[in-house]
Amino acid sequence: MIIVIDFGSQFNQLIARRVRENNVYCQVEPADISLEKLKELSPTGIILSGGPSSIYEENSPTIDAGIFDLNVPILGICYGMHYMVHTLGGTIKQAGKKEYGFAELRINPGNPLFKEMDDSFQCWMSHGDSAKTLPQGFEITAQTDNTPIAAIADYSRKLFGLQFHPEVEHSINGAAMIRHFLFDVCGCDQNWTMKSFSEGAIAQIKDAVGDKKVIMGLSGGVDSSVAATLIHKAVGKNLHCIFVDNGLLRLNEKAQLEVSLLANLDMNIKFVDAQEKFLTALAGVTDPEKKRKIIGKLFIEVFDAEAKKVEGAQFLGQGTLYPDIIESKSAFGGPTSIIKSHHNVGGLPEEMNLKLVEPLQLLFKDEVRKLGLELGINEGLVWRQPFPGPGLAIRILGDITKERLDVLRKADDILIQEIKQAGLYRKLWQSFAVLLPIKSVGVMGDKRTFANCVAIRAVTSNDAMTADWAKLPHDLLGKISNRIINEVDKVNRVVFDITSKPPGTIEWE
Ligand code: XMP
Repeated sequence: MIIVIDFGSQFNQLIARRVRENNVYCQVEPADISLEKLKELSPTGIILSGGPSSIYEENSPTIDAGIFDLNVPILGICYGMHYMVHTLGGTIKQAGKKEYGFAELRINPGNPLFKEMDDSFQCWMSHGDSAKTLPQGFEITAQTDNTPIAAIADYSRKLFGLQFHPEVEHSINGAAMIRHFLFDVCGCDQNWTMKSFSEGAIAQIKDAVGDKKVIMGLSGGVDSSVAATLIHKAVGKNLHCIFVDNGLLRLNEKAQLEVSLLANLDMNIKFVDAQEKFLTALAGVTDPEKKRKIIGKLFIEVFDAEAKKVEGAQFLGQGTLYPDIIESKSAFGGPTSIIKSHHNVGGLPEEMNLKLVEPLQLLFKDEVRKLGLELGINEGLVWRQPFPGPGLAIRILGDITKERLDVLRKADDILIQEIKQAGLYRKLWQSFAVLLPIKSVGVMGDKRTFANCVAIRAVTSNDAMTADWAKLPHDLLGKISNRIINEVDKVNRVVFDITSKPPGTIEWE
């Protein structure tokens, strides 16, 4: 196992993913982890992440310096390298010139991290400080014009430092450097595969749950579907899934879930038709936050009522992912890797006293998709784009009515069909239609119309924190617009949203 020590970098999850892409298990741990705990984890290698602090700042993050005596290979990245240099007796100074963005890296021979690479190539820098003198035993193994010490190594102790960020895509050869660290320096085994993970997880769930019942809410999304499938493999009919139809779902949502999960798995799924309840509660509500509150509260009520019918249930399954568990604040907050408290068991009453089963809590989203395929879930479900809990309610601006929901559902379905047809569905973080609260004038078949306007929203993103509007081809936009206007009653105008996040948000409400 590789341990990434979180010094507050916005990239530390990316480092972990880069490691796991090589089928090597990797875990992110906070910098204040004790030496004992670290020894218990018995890592094959350690990566010290970058971070926003300067080594001489008060309260800059530190880790027990005993890690350098563990006889475990260590790679320090940016701040991680500064920490290594500073702690072992070298000096770090504020650089004369800060260096952000691309730089040409020139490497010296001998560093196994740079094995079989050209003499110079592009790397991605983001730092104010740099190393000025090195601790005993270290040598300089690369430089750039602005940074004479851009990479360092102490070969006898297997300590390495990189001033730039190998984990970001813009660093040419960055992924190869991480690979060389894993295999040429640490000698890692490649035993992290979704097959081995699922076998281990099923055994663990069996062990923990025994012959007790597990309740689980299904949303139609990939996370809850994969988690439920895994739990089902472990406990079979003792898994009781609840799917609440709140009337705010996309076209064929329920049908797709039935095809994907019921057809192959004979899973216990209770479909609860609560459409009326939600639409009644939402009637006349236009404020986005009010909509969210009403939907959240009602969902808990409906789910609770169903959950209580499952007598003797002792567990609640959830599709929590690794990024939900470990959350590192960067840039502004300093390194505060926090473990979220997971006492919120879906809002279920405390007296039910359920224990959580969260089999995906070690996985990143791309791994969940791989696992889903490994478990035999169909590609259509595994590759679904994220869909917000409040559903279409936050994509209908203004009044939510059954009629308006039907208009949006049809428009959205056409848009998704065309995006898929164009081979873009998996490349986009999200793509969907929004129903605007305005009507505009049009002319159709020589007749004046006064009808609804639909907006097309399509974004690329890695994590939904920031997003860029997708540059969809004009002919595709034209086709979507034509089809929506021709096939969806009561729509006579389609517009395309060209706002990034920030300043916009992905959803319109
Ligand atoms: P925004 O609109 O804030 O959305 O840029 C970021 C991501 O979060 C999703 N989203 C939600 N998901 N409940 C959810 O479960 C919500 O209330 C909610 N609001 C936004 C959105 O679809 C996007 O992926």
